[in-house]
Amino acid sequence: MKKWSVVGLVALLGIAGGLSGYLIAASSQAQTPVTYYSHIAGILERNCLNCHSAGGVAPFSLEDPQRVVRMAAAIKYVVENDIMPPWPPGPLSPPMLDERRLSPEEKELILRWVASGAPLGDPSQRPPSSPPPRPSERTPDRVVIMDPPYLPNKARSDDYRCFLLDPQLERDTLVTGYRVYPGQKSLVHHVILFVIGPDAVSAAEARDRAEPGPGWTCYGGPGLSGVGANALSNSLGFWVPGTDGTDFPHKSARLLRAGSRIVMQVHYHTAHVTQNSYDATKVHLFLAPEGASLIPLQGMILAAPVEIRCPGPYPSDPNDPCHREAAMRRAEPDFALLSDAIHQICGTTVQEYLRRDIGDGSAQRTQCDFRVRQNGLALGVISHMHMRGTATRIELNPDTPQAKILLDIPRWDFNWQGNYWFQEPIPLKAGDRVRIVCVYDNSRAIMGPDRQMVPPRYMIWGEGTLDEMCLGGVAFIRQ
Ligand code: HEC
Repeated sequence: MKKWSVVGLVALLGIAGGLSGYLIAASSQAQTPVTYYSHIAGILERNCLNCHSAGGVAPFSLEDPQRVVRMAAAIKYVVENDIMPPWPPGPLSPPMLDERRLSPEEKELILRWVASGAPLGDPSQRPPSSPPPRPSERTPDRVVIMDPPYLPNKARSDDYRCFLLDPQLERDTLVTGYRVYPGQKSLVHHVILFVIGPDAVSAAEARDRAEPGPGWTCYGGPGLSGVGANALSNSLGFWVPGTDGTDFPHKSARLLRAGSRIVMQVHYHTAHVTQNSYDATKVHLFLAPEGASLIPLQGMILAAPVEIRCPGPYPSDPNDPCHREAAMRRAEPDFALLSDAIHQICGTTVQEYLRRDIGDGSAQRTQCDFRVRQNGLALGVISHMHMRGTATRIELNPDTPQAKILLDIPRWDFNWQGNYWFQEPIPLKAGDRVRIVCVYDNSRAIMGPDRQMVPPRYMIWGEGTLDEMCLGGVAFIRQ
């Protein structure tokens, strides 16, 4: 527990530091008034409008000046607390590519503007439009698209659907990057691309056939037995609004074996679904020419035990939903096996987790260390939990003077998960340790995707909405 309170303290100091900077700047520049037209419109254009415009994923547009003025207090709140633009990695994380973050100066201008009454100012002072840089347009080597289009299921508030796509790879192929183009921009909240190796294709096809309509309902992963447990570490990439796609950095590429398929998981917000809301989300893939000198990305998989208890005393009745045995009986056999086996990997026991004092159950922590096998360069990182997750961290050589945080997400939000690529590669040495930490809140009922309140129950590993995971990965290249 201690660690997280230190994190909290550092975050607090960071905020205080920012604030004192703001006060100094405010007093020295008190003469220059900040108006909507002179400063704010440009900041919003660069940082907010790709989601907050007509037809965008955000629930309202920030294009109309009057509207922005009316929302000044809400804008202050989300900017001050780093809620918007959505960017989960906290300040302890290393600098990442494509960060969606306001600069300290931009933040300060917005806060000064709101504090001075959010004046509109003079429209002639509006600087010329400068939209944010987008990843360069590239001609795709493969275009894969959902076919036929899919009408999101309005019976659920959040519809998570998996679609099986065939990139028609006749030989083992290095993928250098991808772009995702949502068909219905206002409905598609996130997209995860999973690689399905040739040996798992028939399982995926069977899963697809088993459910009527295009694709199948899925949640934490594609839900294919046998390959499900580590499917996420097999992901090609993530997409959330505001990041069109990724070009894998430092001449790295992901190797897809001949005959591989892609499962595209789409998370739809369904509140505004009508009978015309058919979605056909599309993926562009960039492939390396044969013989290209690129370095294949390797994945180091990280996972920690998931033994999340209900608040209050541990029940003695094995049929109680808060008892581990009930959770094991509910689970898919693969995940029940994994839930036990992971303790051997991590050198922990179920009993040890059951003996812990979990207080009110709102900050249950799990962790596991893994050894680096060979020298390399870490290029990117990912961490994944479901709805009960509140914070996660991946750290290199923790508890040593060389400790380095690879990812720190102080406020986990399932809706804004992603994979992150470092601005500078981070060296890994054989023998280094990498720790994954996950923290969960199981103290109260939460809203499930079918709009029902779900009370706490014992949670082990699983792919369902009501199961949990503590799964991470480090993408690296060998050296
Ligand atoms: C990547 C997409 C994206 C970007 C960029 C973005 N927003 Fe948002 N914003 C959303 C979404 C989606 C919501 C709805 C709540 C949610 O899903 O988190 C939202 C909600 C909000 C809210 C309402 C908060 C609430 O609690 O409901 C405000 C205010 C806001 N955004 C302001 C901004 C401002 C100001 C910026 C730029 C500095 C910005 N947003 C950038 C997607 C975005």
